Amino acid sequence: MLDRGIYRWWFFGVLVTSVINNVHGNSAPSEWIKAKLESINHPISSAVDIASGAGRHSLLLADKAPNVTAVDGNPELFKYFENTPVRFQCLDLEKEDWPMSGDTFDVVLVSNYLYRPHLRSLIGLVGPNGYLIYETFGVGNERFGKPSNPHFLLRPEELEGSVGNGFMILDEFFGEVTNPHPAVRARLFAQRVES
Ligand SMILES: C[S@@+](CC[C@H](N)C(=O)[O-])C[C@H]1O[C@@H](n2cnc3c(N)ncnc32)[C@H](O)[C@@H]1O
Repeated sequence: MLDRGIYRWWFFGVLVTSVINNVHGNSAPSEWIKAKLESINHPISSAVDIASGAGRHSLLLADKAPNVTAVDGNPELFKYFENTPVRFQCLDLEKEDWPMSGDTFDVVLVSNYLYRPHLRSLIGLVGPNGYLIYETFGVGNERFGKPSNPHFLLRPEELEGSVGNGFMILDEFFGEVTNPHPAVRARLFAQRVES
């Protein structure tokens, strides 16, 4: 009887932790993003983590760059950035007027976020010779679960088409993955070559 009670509490704890992790995005960083960041072998001054969640990638960026901004629309995430070198900026990235107009960064990182109406504005955040690291879900992911809304799923070649000729494609991928769980992922690592 006692064992069963303990087991129930343990299960409840695991469940709550997993929900919190999923809500705030503070699970382990993406291995692909880690590898792309590590491949940049010259000094980076500024970087931004777009729709950062709790900052699992912002902190990786902070290992590379002295000026890192994490942007997210959820003000409750501020607490995750206290006592870190990352500056948290609470912005609604989906309001009609692009809220980051005029800003540029050496690295722009986006993970698990898509808002098509501002995709080109977001790409415009990449400064001269700067990098875009983008990884999110792709069309077909609905076979595996959420996100399944086409508004949140990139189409094949969509990122490549959106960056256009001003970028050199360093790595790209669109397809099924099994790790960390089965999904359709779209990935682009590109460097701006024209200002
Ligand atoms: C799936 S989470 C991804 C978090 C993080 N990039 C990661 O991979 O761990 C999506 C994030 O987008 C943010 N978001 C959603 N709508 C937003 C908006 N209109 N403006 C800014 N951030 C938004 C959410 O608050 C959430 O943190």
